[in-house]
Amino acid sequence: MNTLFAANWKMHKTTAEARQTAAELKGLVSGKLKPGREVMILPPFTALAPVAGALGGAANFLLGAQNFYPQKQGAFTGEVSPGMLLDVGVSFALTGHSERRHVLGETDAVVGAKTAFGLESGLGVILCVGEKLDERKAGNLEAVLERQIRAGLAGVPKDIAPERLALAYEPVWAIGTGEVAGPKEILEAHAFVRRMLVEFFGASASEMRILYGGSVKPDNASEIIALDNVDGVLVGGASLKADEFSRIVLA
Ligand code: PGA
Repeated sequence: MNTLFAANWKMHKTTAEARQTAAELKGLVSGKLKPGREVMILPPFTALAPVAGALGGAANFLLGAQNFYPQKQGAFTGEVSPGMLLDVGVSFALTGHSERRHVLGETDAVVGAKTAFGLESGLGVILCVGEKLDERKAGNLEAVLERQIRAGLAGVPKDIAPERLALAYEPVWAIGTGEVAGPKEILEAHAFVRRMLVEFFGASASEMRILYGGSVKPDNASEIIALDNVDGVLVGGASLKADEFSRIVLA
């Protein structure tokens, strides 16, 4: 399985800025990427096509989406379907990102419906899970992860191709705060996620990627990537500048 370096641009960048950052990143990384690594850019919807154009099908670069609605088409004002994303070259999408859960109010059940529908529609899915600080302090880390994972995977076929489904562990208290989880915390959470994946999918769980996200920066990326059960990173703030993100990707 390839180690994945995913750039979640959130609600940042005009089309011109997105095109320029993607082109710059491609220039900085191309030819230098260690074997077994791939890079994914997840721009806002409006910049998907421009970023696809800037990447021009470059090897080891993927286009991802931050969100979608779990229906084929219809009267869903403001929403975008998996088919529309596939049409512009998207191969993966996030579900359950903490901002969708805690700012936009998505429930575990909605996250589960999206995960199942996205996979069924032909997208790869990165299901994000993670505890809030009060949940961790109350000793509920595993209970929260278990609840989110059970609901998130409820509709996913047991025989799903392992490369099409990734989990991202993103402790909410580490997202955008500069507060990175320590190696011990990451190891514990990722081992727990792996055990849950084995319970759901058996042997193929060992080929599913588990990403870490939350204040990943150029100076901590190589240490995080080297940890057991860490198969990539999901990066927000430090992915917005091509130079900074390239130092993570090449770490
Ligand atoms: P951050 O965001 O790297 O800015 O902490 C990570 C994420 O939300 O995916």
